[in-house]
Amino acid sequence: MEVLKNKKNLLDFVERNKEMGKRIGFAPTMGALHNGHLSLYEEARKENDLVISSIFVNPTQFNNAEDLEKYPRNMERDILILEKSGLVDAVYIPEVTDIYPEKTESQHYDFDGLENEMEGKSRPGHFDGVGTVVEELFRQVQPDNAYFGEKDYQQLAIIKKMVEKKKLPIKIKGVPIYRADNGLALSSRNQRLSEERREAAKIIYETLIKVNDWFRVITIPEIKERVADIIDEQRGMQLEYFLIADEDTLKETDFFYKDKNFRAFIVVVVDGVRLIDNMHLD
Ligand code: PAF
Repeated sequence: MEVLKNKKNLLDFVERNKEMGKRIGFAPTMGALHNGHLSLYEEARKENDLVISSIFVNPTQFNNAEDLEKYPRNMERDILILEKSGLVDAVYIPEVTDIYPEKTESQHYDFDGLENEMEGKSRPGHFDGVGTVVEELFRQVQPDNAYFGEKDYQQLAIIKKMVEKKKLPIKIKGVPIYRADNGLALSSRNQRLSEERREAAKIIYETLIKVNDWFRVITIPEIKERVADIIDEQRGMQLEYFLIADEDTLKETDFFYKDKNFRAFIVVVVDGVRLIDNMHLD
């Protein structure tokens, strides 16, 4: 595996491989790698000649300085994981100036309103930061296909929208949520929880399963009440939001409609760590 430590190394690597007609699959990350990331590379391996990942903790997508500071970083461990996996041909580890040559600032995007729902309300400016870094990485890496986890479902929708609006020749692929044995969605943030709290946090997935059972049986306001009650009963957990939304527009709904796809979205703060999850409702 090649470790590309700046933009020039990356561009040389990409040019060499493009000239040979290689199809590139790309999965950007912020490091603190886990099996969820490996599932992105596995998908990318199936559909491309070459897999590139990046590790860059993007400052502009954190709307909270403490969250940015606490974000887990361990480059040596990450490189070892990538090497051992045998799934990735090159990892790009840009400097801040490779991504932000002038000011470390986001561009402003219009994602047709997707950015104003859910995480957009809780984390102002977050999706401008994500859009800025992902667009820049796309322009440098020039992938044919790019892979994102469905855990950050809104991020996935926004990146699809950006590619469509900017007419970038890249296919965006969503990869199903990778869960621990107890059902907890894997996230780099889980590393900040004790084993006992990770076990307790499985209630988030268990609640989503119940929501799927209740869907179209009781009303959405009733489902919301039950979810709030379940999370309220848990020690050290606060429900930040739970809602059911149209899968395409991400607009919250209080009613079921025929011929529409719905998804439940939940954010629970467990001992100060913000955990996010979602589930398609059958
Ligand atoms: O999902 C992430 O890890 C980040 O938001 C991403 C897509 C790598 C952009 O920094």
